[in-house]
Amino acid sequence: MSFSNDIYEIIKTRRSIRSFNDKEVPDELLHKILQTAIWAPSGKNFQNWHFYVLKGDKLKEFTEVYNEFWEYVKPTLEGKLKPKIIELTGKFFGNIGNAPVVILAFSDIIPGEEPITSMGSVFLAIQNLLLLAHKEGLGTCVLGRVEQKAEQVKKLLNIENKEFLCGIALGYYDRESPAPPRREGKIHWL
Ligand SMILES: Cc1cc2nc3c(=O)[nH]c(=O)nc-3n(C[C@H](O)[C@H](O)[C@H](O)COP(=O)(O)O)c2cc1C
Repeated sequence: MSFSNDIYEIIKTRRSIRSFNDKEVPDELLHKILQTAIWAPSGKNFQNWHFYVLKGDKLKEFTEVYNEFWEYVKPTLEGKLKPKIIELTGKFFGNIGNAPVVILAFSDIIPGEEPITSMGSVFLAIQNLLLLAHKEGLGTCVLGRVEQKAEQVKKLLNIENKEFLCGIALGYYDRESPAPPRREGKIHWL
């Protein structure tokens, strides 16, 4: 399934997907999405992004580490979200919605560069990735980083000199999540 060509519609209909089906994602399609996503702007044109594609056994190993994120995330949600949402979020931390692919995003560590600039550059490429995946009928969900486990994620991939930023669960899906309405008062004209 290929989605609309209207970029406004693509942006507004992308949703975070937290439950995936078994349909395999072709490597050629992943390759095309990633190769296009990196046409993002980057501070000083450093192109400091790195994407690691995890499937199969490596993904299982990552899922085990990701399970442990929950003990750090859960206390930050209590009292802020409804208990049912917390329960569903906990379940997602358990199996990543059975996503067939997780992409881990890293940044080069650049001496003298503002971390916010290098991080921001990678997140611009990530947003490209999310939108391209959606255009191709694939669902995605960003998996936030947890500081306490970042080193463990690097160790799993045998990475030393890069900063772990987040994961992106990716796959085909049957059901969409409802769209959380966008809040008013965020755009300021002076
Ligand atoms: C930096 C970042 C981290 C996120 N981390 C998580 C996460 O760990 N688990 C999750 O289920 N969703 C995560 N999300 C997805 C948000 O919950 C989601 O984008 C938000 O609820 C709005 O929904 P939408 O993406 O469908 O518009 C994250 C999103 C961002 C941008």
